[in-house]
Amino acid sequence: MVDKSPKSPDFPTDVAAETQGESLADVLSEVEDIGTSMAPSQLPLLAAGGLVKSFGGIRAVDNVSIEVAKGSITGLIGPNGAGKTTLFNLLSNFIHPDKGRVLFDGEPIQNLQPHQIAQRGMVRTFQVARALSRLSVMENMLLAVQKQTGENFWNTWFRGKQIRAEERQQKERAMTILESIGLAHMANEYAGALSGGQRKLLEMGRALMANPQLILLDEPAAGVNPTLINQICDRILTWNREGITFLIIEHNMDVIMSLCDRVWVLAEGRNLAAGTPAEIQTNSQVLEAYLGQ
Ligand SMILES: Nc1ncnc2c1ncn2[C@@H]1O[C@H](COP(=O)(O)OP(=O)(O)O)[C@@H](O)[C@H]1O
Ligand SMILES: [Mg+2]
Repeated sequence: MVDKSPKSPDFPTDVAAETQGESLADVLSEVEDIGTSMAPSQLPLLAAGGLVKSFGGIRAVDNVSIEVAKGSITGLIGPNGAGKTTLFNLLSNFIHPDKGRVLFDGEPIQNLQPHQIAQRGMVRTFQVARALSRLSVMENMLLAVQKQTGENFWNTWFRGKQIRAEERQQKERAMTILESIGLAHMANEYAGALSGGQRKLLEMGRALMANPQLILLDEPAAGVNPTLINQICDRILTWNREGITFLIIEHNMDVIMSLCDRVWVLAEGRNLAAGTPAEIQTNSQVLEAYLGQ
């Protein structure tokens, strides 16, 4: 269990946002210099400084910095095209930045594959749920852990019996998770039979199979009916109380405001603001960015 009260120290994140990340970049080099002499709980679980990513002529992410305190539920918002999903791709190394650094749990991750990052405890979901329609819900859960841990076929082949015991355990674990997200009764159905909202839940269930410290959620409430949105929020809060840190992209402001300890705002590929939900809600620049859409 993580006690949520002692937050990570007050890194100058508001200042960082105002100066488009330079301060956080400084903090990051400090973090590296300080290394392990600082208590681990005082380091942000995830921190990135000065990230840049261009696609052709478009700077999708332009000198962006962000940090996610351990034990927090951190929000990431911004108008369409602001660079949120690209930032997720950079944070999880699905794509490589042109510039900038990402530290997870105090370690640089730029040389790791996404599955290695998952093994270290950071997993992400996709804006468009990736469940395989022609596999059962249970098979999707089991496949997720295989993919995220990078297990390969030959390894599995040679380790025969031991693998079967592990598989049984994984299956039990998958069932427990499916129960917690209200999908146990669908375990043997095709994933294609799930509603949009249930697919989002399955996507979260798949992320949980990796036993993560940090989950990045890309629009968990998009296209989900209000009842299921409430259920998803409840689950996120419960998992957070159990010790999982979240970074959540979401357009539904009720979700962001009710869940998040801290919110980062991007606009046109840049840091626009960072603060508590209350601060963000009344920030005139943020309101302008949304109205200007
Ligand atoms: N793979 C890509 N190739 C070219 N342009 C891209 C690619 N991914 C994103 N973009 C562009 O980068 C910008 C940011 O996109 P995205 O990160 O998806 O924004 P958001 O998730 O905030 O809506 C957009 O202008 C988008 O068109
Ligand atoms: Mg997006």
